[in-house]
Amino acid sequence: MKIGIICAMQEEIELLSQDIQTENSLTIAGRTFLEGRLYGKPVVLVRSRIGKVAAASTATTLIDRFHPDCIIFCGTAGGIGKGLHTGDIVVADRLIQHDVDTGTGNGFKIPQLNMDYFPTDPALSERLISAVKQYIQNGFTHDIPAQYLEEFGISAPKAVVGTIASGDQFICSKEKNQWLAEQIENLQCVEMEGAAVSQVCYEFGVPHAVIRVISDGADDASSVNFDSFIEHAACHFTRGGIKAFLESEQ
Ligand code: ADE
Repeated sequence: MKIGIICAMQEEIELLSQDIQTENSLTIAGRTFLEGRLYGKPVVLVRSRIGKVAAASTATTLIDRFHPDCIIFCGTAGGIGKGLHTGDIVVADRLIQHDVDTGTGNGFKIPQLNMDYFPTDPALSERLISAVKQYIQNGFTHDIPAQYLEEFGISAPKAVVGTIASGDQFICSKEKNQWLAEQIENLQCVEMEGAAVSQVCYEFGVPHAVIRVISDGADDASSVNFDSFIEHAACHFTRGGIKAFLESEQ
């Protein structure tokens, strides 16, 4: 089983790129696809860059050229769900593109596809949430220095399953945050790529999952600590979750 792994940002993919044993490296349209073994399992690892177009085009190339059996998208997100804090983890059961509006009163429906919510693969997502819970129980306090856990207020992170919304906007206002929560049932977090990858995977028939570490509250304080958080904390949750996931594979 060959797994495609995509992250949007260098800081998010950094530790995985250090750990992969690369057998083949190919740059296509500015994206470097690393094919090799990660924790003993065959993967293709790639950084998409930020935003829906970047993510969709990367997923398309990944599927068309490397034929992964499934795709996992990892990164950070702004928390919307009640009780979510920095360092908590969301695994998507479905994703929606919150910036789609064709002006026809069809909500967030993708024209001609007539879909708003794209489901993730249940088995893949279940394995991912178990892996993340394992990392939360056994790993993160060894990997993330206490100084950063304190700085970001992370003590007992939790992992939840729910809806993720994506759009080409960094959400940093309470009003937009509340509006999205009203429009989208069980919305847990917002980010800028996941649902675009979901649409591509849906159209190609490739199973996929999306995992996001909460980096901010998608409100007026959103940009505070973001850079430091992804560099010192989010990358560990991403690596820890993916490592536990790959090691759980038979
Ligand atoms: N990624 C991390 N935080 C985000 C936010 N507040 N909005 C969109 N994408 C994000």
